[in-house]
Parts: sequence; structure tokens; C-alpha cells
Amino acid sequence: MKGKTNRDPSKSTDLWRTPKWLFNACSVAVGGFDLDLCATADDALVPVFCEDIFAESPNARAAWCNPPYSRKSEVIDRVLTLVGDNKIGECVMCLPASTDTSWFADLMSTGIVTPVFVKGRVPFGDPTKNGRTAPIGGTVLFAIDKNEELLKTTVRKLARELKQIGRLSCIGVMGV
Ligand SMILES: C[S@@+](CC[C@H](N)C(=O)[O-])C[C@H]1O[C@@H](n2cnc3c(N)ncnc32)[C@H](O)[C@@H]1O
Repeated sequence: MKGKTNRDPSKSTDLWRTPKWLFNACSVAVGGFDLDLCATADDALVPVFCEDIFAESPNARAAWCNPPYSRKSEVIDRVLTLVGDNKIGECVMCLPASTDTSWFADLMSTGIVTPVFVKGRVPFGDPTKNGRTAPIGGTVLFAIDKNEELLKTTVRKLARELKQIGRLSCIGVMGV
């Protein structure tokens, strides 16, 4: 129906693919990813990937994660556990910039993340459609690392790479 709002976009957004320019900018910032935490053989952006992040116990220096949106809170918890257990050194998570949600505030309160907001709408690819689509709102990249200095370095590099392609909005900080 014309003008109808999709109030439950979770099913299609579960499969939305990251545009190469965004992934490449993040990859350069971390010196290359060695794991894609949420993928299938069809859409993995790194040769090594998890098809079931909850069942697998991966090891990686730097992991990329664009989660199935309908399970983002569970995936966030899992990523935090993997980083906490030193299974993953650092992770860049690509998420909707939903600053009004509990998961966003909870993630910020961990103290081991910094959000880098992407300027403009990000055109994610929908494999179920021929055309491309875009999220309703903005996109944020969460850099996650227990090591404060390494986290700062990654955030600086993420910001630099996004700025170079005209896609840096701002960096978020906790507290004043
Ligand atoms: C938003 S897409 C991201 C695809 C691609 N890796 C990227 O970054 O563009 C999420 C992917 O996670 C996969 N997925 C679904 N459940 C998963 C799970 N439990 N563990 C790992 N990946 C899962 C989906 O099949 C899909 O391939």
C-alpha cells in the first residue's frame, strides 16, 4: 500500500549488507579485520566469519560486526563477553544511531566503547530486493576495546578515514 510504514523492518534489516566504502574505511582504521562476527558465506566481508556467534567461540585481533538488527541486543552482549574474555581484541560494530534506546545507553555505560557517527544516510544493500535501501535514521560505528589507549587510537583513525570520504558526523563521549 502506498505510503504504508513498515513498522517491523527487522526481518529485512537482518540481512542488510554494509556498503564497501564504509567497511573499507573501518578496515583501514583497524589495520584490517581478521573476523566478521555476523555473516554467511554469501555476505561475509572477511574470509573468516561466524555463522552463529552464540555457539562459536572465535578468536580475533580485530572483528567487524554488522548484526542482524532483530537480535542486536543479544549480539552486543555476546560481543562484550568475547572482548571481556580477551577472545577479541577490538571490535567495530555497525548499528543504527538509536540514541533513545536502552541498548545504546547500556553500551555507552560499559566504558569500553566510543561511538563514531556517520554523516548522511548509509545505503545498506538488501539482498532480497534488486534495488538498494537505506535505514530510517543514522548509522553509528561503535569502537569497542578494553584498552583505553588502543580504543582512542582506533576512534581517531575511524574519524580520520570517515572525514577523508566526507562521512564523519561526530564522535560521542560519555560524561562531561
Ligand atoms: C546485517 S547482515 C551483515 C552481513 C555482512 N556481514 C555485512 O557486514 O555486510 C547480518 C548477518 O548476520 C547473519 N546472522 C544471523 N544470525 C546470526 C548469528 N546468530 N550469528 C552470526 N551471524 C548471524 C545473517 O544471516 C546476516 O548474514
